[in-house]
Amino acid sequence: MRSLAASRAMLRRAAIPLAAPACRTTRHYSLEAKSASTSQLRGLEANRLIIEKTAKPKSLTKPEDLIFGNQFTDHMLSIEWNKETGWQEPRITPYQNLSLDPATCVFHYAFECFEGMKAYKDKDGNVRLFRPEKNMARFNKSAARIALPTFEPASLIELIAKFAKLDSRFIPDHRGYSLYLRPTMIGTQKTLGVGTPGSALLYVIASPVGPYYPTGFKAVSLEATDYAVRAWPGGVGDKKLGANYAPCIVPQQQAASRGYQQNLWLFGEEEYVTEVGTMNMFVALKNKETGQKELITAPLDGTILEGVTRDSVLHLARERLVPEGWKVSERKYTMKELAEASQEGRLIEAFGAGTAAIVSPVRKIAWKGQHVDCGLTEAEESGEIALKMKGWMEDIQYGDEEHEWSYKA
Ligand SMILES: Cc1ncc(COP(=O)(O)O)c(C=O)c1O
Repeated sequence: MRSLAASRAMLRRAAIPLAAPACRTTRHYSLEAKSASTSQLRGLEANRLIIEKTAKPKSLTKPEDLIFGNQFTDHMLSIEWNKETGWQEPRITPYQNLSLDPATCVFHYAFECFEGMKAYKDKDGNVRLFRPEKNMARFNKSAARIALPTFEPASLIELIAKFAKLDSRFIPDHRGYSLYLRPTMIGTQKTLGVGTPGSALLYVIASPVGPYYPTGFKAVSLEATDYAVRAWPGGVGDKKLGANYAPCIVPQQQAASRGYQQNLWLFGEEEYVTEVGTMNMFVALKNKETGQKELITAPLDGTILEGVTRDSVLHLARERLVPEGWKVSERKYTMKELAEASQEGRLIEAFGAGTAAIVSPVRKIAWKGQHVDCGLTEAEESGEIALKMKGWMEDIQYGDEEHEWSYKA
C-alpha cells in the first residue's frame, strides 16, 4: 500500500499543470463571470417597447441652476427580467418611485451595477450619445460578475436613444450642457439567502447637467491615499458596482478635511498611481534621458475602471499627439517617479479623465508630507494637453466634428 505522504506527493504533482501552466509568467486574475441569463430565455427586444407618457410634465430648471444629479426628467425606462422567461417588454413610464420588499437582495448583498453616460444636443437639435457601445459592454461585464442577467447591447442603445429623445426638452442647447444617463441594474429577488438573483430590474433615469467648470477650468489639489486601497488584483475594481463606491467616501472626506478636492488612489508598496477619485489619471512627463514627451496612464490590470474617456483620450493622443513626437503609454508608474520628475522640472501636467468633467487638471499632490507640483504656474488652471483633449472630445460629442464615436439618437 502507498504511504499517505507518497499519495499526497502524487496528488501535488498531478495538480501542478492545472494550477500553474508552464507558459504563464504572470498570474491572470480574470474570473469568467457567468451571468444569470441563458440563451434559452427571451432576450432584450427594443421593438417590444411600451410608452406611457406623463400627464404632468415637469417645469424646466434654469440651466444655470442645474445641480449634478439633483433634477430628473419626466420619464424613466424600465425592463424587468426573471429566470423563467428572461427579459420582459421594455417600458418608458413617468419617473416614479420603486416599490421593493425589505428583503429584496439588492438591499442586503449589493446586487447592483450601473453606468454613467451622456446625451448631447447638437447645433441642429439632434440628440447624440457618445460611444454608447462602450458603456453597454462595461455594463454587461459588471452585471455578469455579480450574477445579474446580461442583455443585447444594440437593443439597450436603441431604447436609451428613444428615451433620451423623448425627454430631450430637458437638454439645454448650449455647449457644456447635457443629459446625464444612469443605466442601473439591481437584483430584485425577495430573499435573505445568498445566491443568484432569480429576478432583476434594469432601469435608466436621466438628469440634465451643466458644465463641470461653469467659469472655466479650476485645477484641483489631490491627497495621495496611502492608508486605504480602492481595488486589488483579482477584485472587482474594474467593474462599475455600487459596492465599489460607498467605501471611497471616507478617504474622500479625509482628503477634503485637509483642503484637497480629491484623493489619489495608490496601490501596493511600490505606490503605483491608479485613479483619482472617480476618474482615470493621466500624467505627461519628459523622459529623463531622451527628453521625449510621454503621456502615461495606468494599464487595465483589473485594478482600475476601464473608462470610456480614458480610452478616448488614449485614442486621440495616439492619433494626434504621436505625430508631434509624443509617446503614449499604458504602463505602471509610481508616486516616486512623479515626485522625481516634478523635482527635476520634467512633470509637464497631470489630469483626471471621466464622463462628468471630461478632463480635470491637477495642480499638486500631497504625498509623504510634501507637495508634488504638477507643472502649472500660479496663473494657469490647465495644461495644454488637458485643454486640447477637452476641445477635441467636445467637438465630437456635440457633433461639430462628424465622428464614428457620435451616435445620433
Ligand atoms: C472609478 C472610476 N474611474 C474612472 C471613471 C471614468 O470612467 P468614464 O470615462 O467611463 O466615465 C469613473 C466614472 O465613471 C469611475 O467611477
